[in-house]
Amino acid sequence: MTTTNDDGIRLQKVLAAAGVGSRRACEVLIEEGRVSVDGEVVQGQGRRIDPETAVVRVDGLRIATNADQVHLALNKPVGMLSAMSDPDGRPNVGDVVGERNARLFHIGRLDADTEGLLLLTNDGELAHRLAHPSYEVPKTYLAEVIGPLARDVGRRLRAGVELEDGIAKADSFRLVDSQGNRVLVEVVLHEGRKHVVRRMLAEAGHPVQRLVRTAVGPVHLGAQKPGRLRPLTRQELGGLYALVGL
Ligand code: URA
Repeated sequence: MTTTNDDGIRLQKVLAAAGVGSRRACEVLIEEGRVSVDGEVVQGQGRRIDPETAVVRVDGLRIATNADQVHLALNKPVGMLSAMSDPDGRPNVGDVVGERNARLFHIGRLDADTEGLLLLTNDGELAHRLAHPSYEVPKTYLAEVIGPLARDVGRRLRAGVELEDGIAKADSFRLVDSQGNRVLVEVVLHEGRKHVVRRMLAEAGHPVQRLVRTAVGPVHLGAQKPGRLRPLTRQELGGLYALVGL
């Protein structure tokens, strides 16, 4: 059945505005049955949608169709507060974002001393879900710790270490590099208690010297420079939506 509706914006226009491709390329995607709206594959051209409310997927990956929504990745440098402003004038995320995106907020926090990936958005539902423990969004950290590494540290972290506010468990742990007393480890976990990685590693006998968050779910820091902001790619955003059931 071909659904046409005089209200709304033509689907290929919405897809093109979301960066999927040219309007013509988007028409081809529709023709090939690769586009769905609100869970149903779109049959034929002529479909109009409300980009603020429709859930549009291309090859199963959700597309951000609401042009007002912004999704960014920041490589937060050491010394910057995870806050959009600071009454004492200390460096904060708001400085990077500037006036142009005043309504943005950060998803979760990193300690001032911790570097790495911090997601920023004005997409309330996505932010709420990504920050909610029930969705168990995995976060990956690279930690420089004082070695040599105890043999059973991975097993201990995966089994759970006792912290003053309860047990904390790593989803995974691996040794990345080791040079004398300087050891690099990667820890993945899905919880967000304050200083949790530093506290877990200290409890396991390896105080953290430097901590970098390298990934949040499917979003990776890669070669992004400290202090730089970039928009999430379509794949990253689609991956985040999928992770939290949107
Ligand atoms: N764990 C920490 O110890 N610090 C962070 O910033 C994030 C996780």
